[in-house]
Amino acid sequence: MTFQLKALEASIGREVTGLDISQDIDAATSAALHAAWLEHGFLLFRGIGTSPEAQLRLSRCFGELEPHSIPVFRHPDYPELILLTNEGGPTGPVYDFDGEQIHGRIPWHADGAYLPTPNSGALLRMVRKTQKGGQTGWLDLALAYDELDAATKEEIKSLEAVYLFRTGLEEMRFNNPGGTRITPRKENYPHFPPVLNPLVWVHPETGRTVLNVSTLNIDHIHNMPRAEGDALIERLIAHILQPRFQYIHDWDNNDMVVWDNRRTLHAALGHPVDQIRVIHRTTIKGTVPMGRVMEEMSA
Ligand SMILES: [Fe+2]
Repeated sequence: MTFQLKALEASIGREVTGLDISQDIDAATSAALHAAWLEHGFLLFRGIGTSPEAQLRLSRCFGELEPHSIPVFRHPDYPELILLTNEGGPTGPVYDFDGEQIHGRIPWHADGAYLPTPNSGALLRMVRKTQKGGQTGWLDLALAYDELDAATKEEIKSLEAVYLFRTGLEEMRFNNPGGTRITPRKENYPHFPPVLNPLVWVHPETGRTVLNVSTLNIDHIHNMPRAEGDALIERLIAHILQPRFQYIHDWDNNDMVVWDNRRTLHAALGHPVDQIRVIHRTTIKGTVPMGRVMEEMSA
């Protein structure tokens, strides 16, 4: 083995140590990294993300890369990298939380939960960290499913939820963090029709059963009275947000994390708007549909 796996303080995910990505990664090491990613849900690499080339080299171990579905987020020089930064001004909405102006706060979600085929994963590289705030969290929905009681597993096994594209925290129906929006809404996003996703999903590569609830985009349970469905969603979200299913990372520059987007949620805690943060992200292309587009169903 050309790397080792080390437990994190949380019981989920793993840290990869001893890996050299300054040159090409051989096929056996690439396959072993891919297997570790599937087995553990997310992997942390401390300090080795020293260039876009190193990030792209590592990212390709986990599948085919794809540019972001919204072109404005793509890095101008590396189309497979997404540039996430507030250098030159906020690029995302700014909210006032208890008198502090916070940029980049995104509650627990899977990327592209509003798409019928979400991406398989993504890899973040911290290029420039903030001195305050800016942590990112991951949580394991396979472990969360395992620890559901039998009655709830039976109750949800055939249910679907409606997911919507959302552009602001104020639109969230569940796990809404509050705060007051300071920057105006942008209206130039593409149209994303509502998507139906199963509450329980079998991971296409590992066979693990996943409790599929993404708090940012979930709107309601399909074919269930609203009050009853909302109470179920509240209960499932309270379950998945238990700290034992979570790991929160305090970044150093050149740290990288790759996650399996079909099994985990992640959350950006945000940072004071006057602090500059630069992140490069790659996206690993999704290959298996999870949900169904509602407009196509009725067409
Ligand atoms: Fe995300």
